[in-house]
Amino acid sequence: MTANPSTPAESALVRAARREPVPHTPVWFMRQAGRSLPEYKRVREGIAMLDSCMRPELVAEITMQPVRRHGVDAAIFFSDIVVPLKAVGIDLDIVAGVGPVVAEPVRTRADLDRIPELTPERVPFITEAVRILVAELGPTPLIGFAGAPFTLASYLVEGGPSKNHEHTKALMHGDPELWNDLCERLAQISGTFLRVQAEAGASVVQLFDSWVGALQREDYTRFVLPHSKAALAAVADLDVPRIHFGVGTGELLTLMGSAGAEVVGVDYRVDLRDAIERLGPQYAVQGNLDPALLFAPWPVLAERIEQIVRAGRSATGHIFNLGHGVLPTTDPEVLTRVVEHVHEVSRRG
Ligand code: CP3
Repeated sequence: MTANPSTPAESALVRAARREPVPHTPVWFMRQAGRSLPEYKRVREGIAMLDSCMRPELVAEITMQPVRRHGVDAAIFFSDIVVPLKAVGIDLDIVAGVGPVVAEPVRTRADLDRIPELTPERVPFITEAVRILVAELGPTPLIGFAGAPFTLASYLVEGGPSKNHEHTKALMHGDPELWNDLCERLAQISGTFLRVQAEAGASVVQLFDSWVGALQREDYTRFVLPHSKAALAAVADLDVPRIHFGVGTGELLTLMGSAGAEVVGVDYRVDLRDAIERLGPQYAVQGNLDPALLFAPWPVLAERIEQIVRAGRSATGHIFNLGHGVLPTTDPEVLTRVVEHVHEVSRRG
């Protein structure tokens, strides 16, 4: 254990993910890149979201911004879960304030047949951006990521963001074979996207199954687990710890761990101590400050941070994070203060 790591493998984040002793609790924030930072808004001016994801120098700059500003223990690669879908030729866009919108929803066998597999040649801009970043980050680890098959399927089947996932669930239950084939294709795409980032030098990967909390355990086990397992298995041989996260997934935590993750991300609706108890010692945990609490008075926030750091001590590994992404109107100075506080409190022992 060293307080001054010289490589990402020795960093607090990678060590916590591997359930090794750490000098302090590592901290990063989902959606730390972009969103609330004025320097992000400046460099993005006049450039569409998906275009910005395909410009390696810009991706590297945006990824570095929160690392420089907040002193977080990891960078999260600036991209989006729909970038690999765009890269295989699906006609979609990211609409500001809305999210991903798909021109023609995928609901039939013919729609699926039009989606090719992802090959690394389709995403050279990802490899290039990761390489620039790894050189610039030095000992700070880079987290690569992808969307999990269910969450990607939800965007494709619904045609955009959805509250109830009704078309997705109708397809899943109404035509299980087509659902299965669609998710197999998406697992190949997600897995390849993770692998490209890991092979280019990302030290950790996170699979976002943001909307899978909409399912009960039985449906998760039958319709989702095999595909998330396949996506995570695509990097199993690379010695890169895998984080698996979803929102509203208190009931699904153990199943999400069994998909092949070393770290299970916990959303803010679950008491971290309960999550740790449910998961047992074979998993490290990540989480789980409510992002809305970043708007609360500092003493309240500080106390909640201390509670989470203390709860994290009962896990075999803990990475501090929010229980979902940074909200766009968050004051960036509060984020910096959270990082300092997590470090200070966890060093105090
Ligand atoms: O900081 C980071 O986390 C790195 C970059 C990142 C983005 N999207 C950039 C982005 C990551 C990891 C994502 C993942 C992502 N994208 C998820 C999983 C995480 C989660 O929040 O559950 C999901 C579900 C998406 C789909 C998506 N893309 C949504 C819901 C949105 C927000 C729409 C909006 O404007 O409110 C996007 C767009 C998006 N992705 C933005 C950014 C910075 C905003 C676009 C902009 O700045 O113009």
